[in-house]
Amino acid sequence: MQKTIIAAKSDNHVIGNQQQLPWHMPADLAFFSEQIQNGYLLTGRNSYGTPEGMGVFANRQDVILVTRQKDYAPKGIHVAHSIPEAFELAEKLGVQQLNILGGAEIYAQTMHLTDELIITEIHMTCEGDAFFPAIDPALWKEVKREDHPADAENPYAYSFVWYTRI
Ligand SMILES: NC(=O)c1ccc[n+]([C@@H]2O[C@H](COP(=O)([O-])OP(=O)(O)OC[C@H]3O[C@@H](n4cnc5c(N)ncnc54)[C@H](OP(=O)(O)O)[C@@H]3O)[C@@H](O)[C@H]2O)c1
Repeated sequence: MQKTIIAAKSDNHVIGNQQQLPWHMPADLAFFSEQIQNGYLLTGRNSYGTPEGMGVFANRQDVILVTRQKDYAPKGIHVAHSIPEAFELAEKLGVQQLNILGGAEIYAQTMHLTDELIITEIHMTCEGDAFFPAIDPALWKEVKREDHPADAENPYAYSFVWYTRI
């Protein structure tokens, strides 16, 4: 099973603030939607409940949510109570591609178990309370980068960056 972390982060590594994305970047939303078309989605319970999460996960059943709450069971999706349990469940379901969609707690606990990172760098700095872990160049090789300038709809320059584990 291929495991891919997909995330968008600011230049100061912020991914969220008060359970929301700190930016509105339609180009990233479009890119993100494309990346998650195939494969199962793994999410932490907080991200599942965010406004963005509600958009992403609505109408999808190929979702594994991670929570420590034994009685938290949203209808129509799978629930696991630890990261190993989530991976075992995905294997049992025959998942070939697992897209790990955060948030901060989930990225921190899965980074060392992941094969690939697809990162949108949003070229700005902002306040935040959720951060992406450091990407150690000794462990991760940047294999592709697409740089884009800001435009009428996207207030910040941004880059799509692919990393594979060395
Ligand atoms: N920029 C991006 O790409 C991106 C992507 C996703 C999210 N975000 C942002 O990230 C923030 C949310 O991140 P977060 O760190 O607060 O939350 P999170 O990682 O989405 O979810 C944390 C929750 O997941 C469950 N959990 C975590 N580790 C677990 C484990 N080992 N076993 C079982 N359950 C576990 C717990 O749920 P229970 O409390 O129910 O036990 C925990 O409270 C938001 O601001 C969101 O907007 C940004």
